[in-house]
Amino acid sequence: MKATAFAPVNVALIKYWGKDNNNLRLPANSSLSVNLTNLGTTTMVEWSKDFINDLADERMIQHLDRIRKLAKFNLKAKVITKNNFPSSAGLSSSASGFAALTLAATAAAGLKLSENDLSRLARLGSGSACRSIPDGWAEWSKGNNETSYAKTIFPADYWDLRILVIILSEGKKAISSTSGQEGVKTSEFYRVRLNGIDSKIKKIKAAIKEKNFRVLGEIMEEDCLSMYGVMMTQKPSLMYWLPETIRVMQAVRQWREEGLESYFTINTGQNVLVFCEPKNENEIVKRLEKINGVIEVRRDKIGKGARLLA
Ligand code: PMV
Repeated sequence: MKATAFAPVNVALIKYWGKDNNNLRLPANSSLSVNLTNLGTTTMVEWSKDFINDLADERMIQHLDRIRKLAKFNLKAKVITKNNFPSSAGLSSSASGFAALTLAATAAAGLKLSENDLSRLARLGSGSACRSIPDGWAEWSKGNNETSYAKTIFPADYWDLRILVIILSEGKKAISSTSGQEGVKTSEFYRVRLNGIDSKIKKIKAAIKEKNFRVLGEIMEEDCLSMYGVMMTQKPSLMYWLPETIRVMQAVRQWREEGLESYFTINTGQNVLVFCEPKNENEIVKRLEKINGVIEVRRDKIGKGARLLA
């Protein structure tokens, strides 16, 4: 009873920040993301009556309990998991991690869940993990426990955009997104942000449909800054950026002034993700690599969702 799965990192263009229900990880707002092709987590799960305890960390064990309940057995599991990128530095390792764990653990248990059910289950492990299950561009609707899952709104090959993952520091963030979100309601901007989300989602979906890169980029950048407006004004205030983070943000804006178009977004961490069109990729990578403090630029594309490897 063994299975291995790969799940991609997903990057939210419209971010999820704040929950209506903590235990069920029901988001206070819908969100929209793309999966990456290269960055992700590979996880092997084996269930056996020979294991006395689960060989996994505490948060994973809580997720294994949900799967044991569905499988109606009491076997223990061994989990081996590997990210092909620095973990806990704002590159959504919990999203790819819980999506890969969900798929591998259910498959190893012999459960055959629909994509929607896998996404709902992954959500209970880490909210944003539900978006790493379906392919390509995904929308995660707010909803209730049954209806809150992510589904593909455009396939991975619908629009060839490039996503540059800029590694600025391999340091781990001090406050995880899960605990960071606990203080969200203390920001005076939280409600304001929530009120504007549905219209942003509508506009960005239209921009994707029309392949309008400028509108897509402007909304994505604005939403990242709006989430940070909330984070910074929460109590206690959250500040994940390093001086290098701001350097990249300013450079991207400067290049835009010069006619070289790209847009940034940032999750909870110091590292930056830059979206551009294929024709500008080489030039932008060359410029990014010259910025003081940039350790590495990884090139990525929009990719498929979680899949079984063995
Ligand atoms: O799923 P969590 O609890 O790791 O939260 C993720 C939050 C952000 O990455 C900041 C936004 C998002 O929608 O991915």
